Amino acid sequence: MNRQQRTPLYTALKHHSLSNPVSFHVPGHKYGTVFTDTGEEDYKRLLHIDVTELSGLDDLHQPESVIAEAQMLAAEFFGVEKTFFLVNGSTSGNLAMIFAVCEENRKVIVQRNCHKSIINGLQLVGAEPIFISPQFDGNVRVASYVSYDAVKETIERYPDAAALVLTNPNYYGMAVDLTEIVKLAHSYGIPVLVDEAHGAHFALGAPFPKTAVACGADLVVQSAHKTLPAMTMGSYLHFNSQLVDEEKVKYFLQVFQSSSPSYPIMASLDLARSYLANLSREDINKISEEIANFKGLLQEIECITVAESTDPVVTTDLLKITVQTRSALSGYQLQSLLEKEGIFIELADPFNLLFVYPLALLKNFAEVSKKIKYALRGVQYDPSYMNISLSYALPPVSQSYSYKKLKNLPKKAVSLENAEGLVAAEMLIPYPPGIPILFIGEIITKEHIELITYLKNSGSRFQGGKLLTFHQLEVFEI
Ligand SMILES: Cc1ncc(COP(=O)(O)O)c(C=O)c1O
Repeated sequence: MNRQQRTPLYTALKHHSLSNPVSFHVPGHKYGTVFTDTGEEDYKRLLHIDVTELSGLDDLHQPESVIAEAQMLAAEFFGVEKTFFLVNGSTSGNLAMIFAVCEENRKVIVQRNCHKSIINGLQLVGAEPIFISPQFDGNVRVASYVSYDAVKETIERYPDAAALVLTNPNYYGMAVDLTEIVKLAHSYGIPVLVDEAHGAHFALGAPFPKTAVACGADLVVQSAHKTLPAMTMGSYLHFNSQLVDEEKVKYFLQVFQSSSPSYPIMASLDLARSYLANLSREDINKISEEIANFKGLLQEIECITVAESTDPVVTTDLLKITVQTRSALSGYQLQSLLEKEGIFIELADPFNLLFVYPLALLKNFAEVSKKIKYALRGVQYDPSYMNISLSYALPPVSQSYSYKKLKNLPKKAVSLENAEGLVAAEMLIPYPPGIPILFIGEIITKEHIELITYLKNSGSRFQGGKLLTFHQLEVFEI
């Protein structure tokens, strides 16, 4: 057995479960023996390994044995000083890394198209975000990465920033090599924190994009559950830094994570790392070939096309397949046609459908391809829909007020049409992808209103915007 085939945490858990233990401890389901009849069948096997910090099973917040060993194997594989297992998703990793590095009233340079957890972290800590607008990819029609020049200009203007917070790849798998940006930030003593939620598999190397770890980033958060065979919420935080205090990271991890971390989730992180580490070149080549075939089949369907970035600095993750409408139907409408045939995709936007391919061969490839073709059979080719001038580029942040100043200001509701020029009192987040299109404290522009109206009318789901059903937004009375 090679070292990376070892799964110390899962093995210890399995061993415990097979020892016929009697439970006078939490959780209350007692290895699944106490459960409602409804659901018992589905939960039973898993509940056998759903335990608590028993002898021999270690403690996530003070790891000394099997969890420490599992995290060490992960750190070895990912090529970092330390890997921390996360049981509350990348959300908890993003919050912990921001709290470990940022402080109240300190400026923090942030990529505009980031997940809401980054914004929540900055807001909670009371930092002053300096947003960098991302490039807009004309082919895929989404915000992509921040350019080296944009980062350089911002760092030169704010050389004493507490951190540079990047998101790479974006939701659609578009990634850039961050090496030069990291070098630049480090030359100013600025630590680089990367939300790599969608890139847990990038450690495999080419043909996948380069991981932020290999680019020298200080802290990197990955949602293992998004692209690896790991349970939902299972994520990693990688520490590799001379600039960040490891003790602070550990402290905030136990602040933001449950004191009863799920063993099935942690063990799935142990197994997922082993799965990843033991994928052979041949396995990866086979998966790549199959994905190329899958794209070929999609390309045969007239009413859609596979959209890819042609930006030379972008490498797109193989597992992310963006399909664009070539019909009078929006992405959302095509999504509902697929769902009628039992095909569920990751997300839709006004123009696109996003498929996330498994990191494995698809067992029912032929059947799935047939179903997709069948679902879209009646949709006519009509490329004119793509002439809609709506810019799904995120509007640049026009002006921000400090979170501290806004905290105690009164709020009021205004109709969307009358919101231009007012200051947003709520974040508005289409979910997925979870990237806010309006921040608290941001001045509302005509572009915001146009985008919100379009998304609302075309069936996007929002988090925030509780008054949107009445066509209203909450703003500050300033
Ligand atoms: C870029 C990005 N970061 C962070 C998150 C949060 O990850 P999690 O769901 O693992 O908490 C997401 C979730 O979609 C995301 O897309």
